[in-house]
Parts: sequence; structure tokens; C-alpha cells
Amino acid sequence: MEQKKHTSGDGQSMWGGRFGGGPSAIMQEINESISFDRRLYREDIAGSKAHSDMLAKQGIITAEDRDAIHKGLDQVEREIEAGHMTFDPALEDIHMHVESRLRELVGDAGARLHTGRSRNDQVATDFRLWSRKAIDELDTAYTALINATLDQAEKYADAVMPGFTHLQTAQPVTLGHHLMAYYEMFSRDRSRLQDCRKRLNENPLGAAALAGTSFPLDRHMTSDALGFDRPMANSLDAVSARDFAIELLSVMSIGSVHLSRFADEIVLWATSAFNFLELSDGFSTGSSIMPQKRNPDAAELIRAKVGRIMGAQNGLMVVMKGLPLAYSKDMQEDKEPVFKAVDDFALCLAAMTGMMEDLKPNTKAMHHAAGQGFSTATDIADWLVRVLGLPFRDAHHVTGAIVKEAETRNVYLSDLPLDAMQAVEPRITESIYDVLSVEASVNSRTSFGGTSPENVKNAVNAAREALKESN
Ligand code: ARG
Repeated sequence: MEQKKHTSGDGQSMWGGRFGGGPSAIMQEINESISFDRRLYREDIAGSKAHSDMLAKQGIITAEDRDAIHKGLDQVEREIEAGHMTFDPALEDIHMHVESRLRELVGDAGARLHTGRSRNDQVATDFRLWSRKAIDELDTAYTALINATLDQAEKYADAVMPGFTHLQTAQPVTLGHHLMAYYEMFSRDRSRLQDCRKRLNENPLGAAALAGTSFPLDRHMTSDALGFDRPMANSLDAVSARDFAIELLSVMSIGSVHLSRFADEIVLWATSAFNFLELSDGFSTGSSIMPQKRNPDAAELIRAKVGRIMGAQNGLMVVMKGLPLAYSKDMQEDKEPVFKAVDDFALCLAAMTGMMEDLKPNTKAMHHAAGQGFSTATDIADWLVRVLGLPFRDAHHVTGAIVKEAETRNVYLSDLPLDAMQAVEPRITESIYDVLSVEASVNSRTSFGGTSPENVKNAVNAAREALKESN
């Protein structure tokens, strides 16, 4: 299709009234943002429609001008969508591209659109709308990840695996319980996104350049039209605030830390040393030289992306610190880190969801490992407290001696003969063996939030209810 040239002069035609010469090529290059802020075109057009509707209702422009503006904006949107807009760095940003093409299409009416508005409130509005939509899409992605997590947690509610502290075998847990720990993290991450949405959903439009305007705008009307909860209360804050973007980056940073921790466990569990899971074909790669290999690339990349997402957050904080009120051009550097981080994070969520759905645990190896390392030693101590009435500290000491004996004989605790235990504590009876299996251990962990399969199933059901309510 033929490319349409739409530039009516260059950026200077928008602001160059008092300028003689044009900007140098390097100035244009450092000044432009169209190479990235073109992603805001839908939001920019929606904002302009709401603004022109309101200008007409307030009698600031005529109904005819409004209709011409709307028709023109629809046409601009179609052209951009069809790939017919020529993006030109001389026109700086998306706001000037849309407006300049509108003026070509509808003339004077288009030139009235910018009444009572500045690019400063315009870009703040567009960026909030874009971020809100991104949050809603991430929310949907989280729902998929959470559903996949709950399905697997339910399936493996009684699959015993070792629980670790310091990555040393500590006590048996279930894989379902382990996965439900991630459910808890994911659902907090999701609620953080929703909190962030609430705070960002205020309308900067109508703050104009920084001080408000002498035109009788109805900022409540544009707020309603754009789905904002209310107009921002202070015009200086409206054009200067970027904490909504920093908050979104922070929420994604925290979320990506959680994805990264699980990704790291996948990497670890898929090693031949652990052998806790098999990587699926869909989320691993082969080696070009070692035919036996299967590499956990997706998990590794999720683990790595957290660095970039946190880098984006840190970067924007540094851009904003020390900026005097109100707008400074520094703030044009706010969008790329957010765009990039949202893209990365969405991809990580999708990849993690895929890996969660494909999860193929080696439950036999997990079960075997759960019994290693005297993992039921705490169960002996608890038995000594419960049955013999020993104070826990004493029970701990007695258990230590029993573990030492098992270690010397190189046997599992459950295989240590009764007389060997009685040599340490003569009152120990046969019934202690009831608590020594890994199943008995996890089944006994019925305290609220504990790992018993019963608890895990209840937790999954409660989570499903909570998810239903939150949607
Ligand atoms: N492209 C600019 C940005 O992203 C829009 C605002 C420009 N405002 C100005 N006063 N130069 O921040």
C-alpha cells in the first residue's frame, strides 16, 4: 500500500512562532520520542476525543468542530493502524503526529483541539491510560498463572518432597504445599497491581501546561469519559507525577523476584543431581554439541529478566529524583523503561504459566529424597514431648543423640532398632515408629498453614473461591 505523507511542515509549525532557524539534526535526534511513544496512539486519540467532547459541551468549540475532530481522529487512527502514518522525528512525538495529521484532514477545527490543553497534561493522561490497560492485561495473565498453580497444587497435594532450609533437607513437605507458597506470592503480586491501578486512575487532563487554564473546562466530564475515578486535584502534580509509573515498575520488580525464585527452583530441580523434574519439550532447548542435554532456558531467562525489570525501576527513579516542579523534558525518558518492563514481565508470566501447566515432577525421586537427611527428626522430638512429656529443649537433645546413632549405623531413623533408641531414652516405645515415615510426618502437620495434604486441599479450595470473588 502506498505510504501517505502527512507532515504539514515540521515540529516547528506547532511551536516555532518565535524561532528563526530550525533545530539541528542532532537536536532532533535527542529530542524525538516518536520512535517509542507511538505506542500511545490509541490513548492519545481517546484523550483527544474526550477533550473535544468536553470543549463542545462547555461551549468552548462548536458542535461542528467537535464532529469534524472526531471524524478526523477516527481517520488518523485507521491510518496508523493500517501502517499508513509516516513517523517523522521532526514532529517529535505521538501528540504532534496525531494533531498535525488531524489538521491536514479537518483544517481549523483540528487546530482548535489544543485549547485548554498542553502536551504536558496530554502525555501524562496517555501514559496513565496505557499503564492502566497494561495492568489489566497483566491481571489476566496472573489469573492464568494462578489457575495453573492451583491445578498442580491440587494434583500433588500429597506428593511428598523434602522441604529445605539453607537448601539442606529439613522436614518433609508436599509439592502441593510448596506450589501453594507460590500461589500466595502470586496473589499478593496481583493485588499489588490492583492497588497500583487504584492510585493511578486519576485524570491529569485539564491541568494544561502546569497551572490549569482560564477556559471553563469540565474535568469531571473527561474523567468519566476516560474511565478515571476523578480529576487530579493539583495541576502541578498532575503534570509532574510519575510515581504511578515507578509504582508499576516496583510491583513488576517484586513480581519478577517471585517468578525468578520459582524459575531458579526449576533449574535446580531439573539437574541430574536433584532429578525432581523433567523439563517439557515446550520450555527447554537442546545442546548443539551434547545430545543428552536438555537446558532450562525459559526458566533461566525468567530468572535473568528480573535484572532488567529492576533496572528499569531504578532507572526511572533516578530520572525523577531532583526534578523541580513541574514538567521537565527529562520526563520523556519515563516511557521506554515501562514499555520494556511490561513487555518483559508479560512474557515471563506467560512462560511461567506454560511451565507450570507442563510441570512433570518425578514424584518417586522427590519421595526418596524426602526421607534422606533424617528429615523426620523433628517428629521424634515432637513424639517425646507429646507422649513422654519431655520439655521441647530436652526432647531436642535426646533426638540429637538418636540421629547420631542412626548416622553411625548409616540407617534411616525409621530403620533404627528400638533398643538403640531406648539406649538413649529408655521410656521410648514401639509407637514412635508411627511418626517416622515421611507420610506420617506430613500428615501430622495439620496446624493452620501447615503442609498436611488435607490442609493443602483446603487451601486450594479457598484460593479458588477467593479467585472467583476477585474477578
Ligand atoms: N514527548 C513529550 C514527553 O514524552 C511530551 C511532552 C512535551 N512537553 C513539552 N513541554 N515539551 O514527555
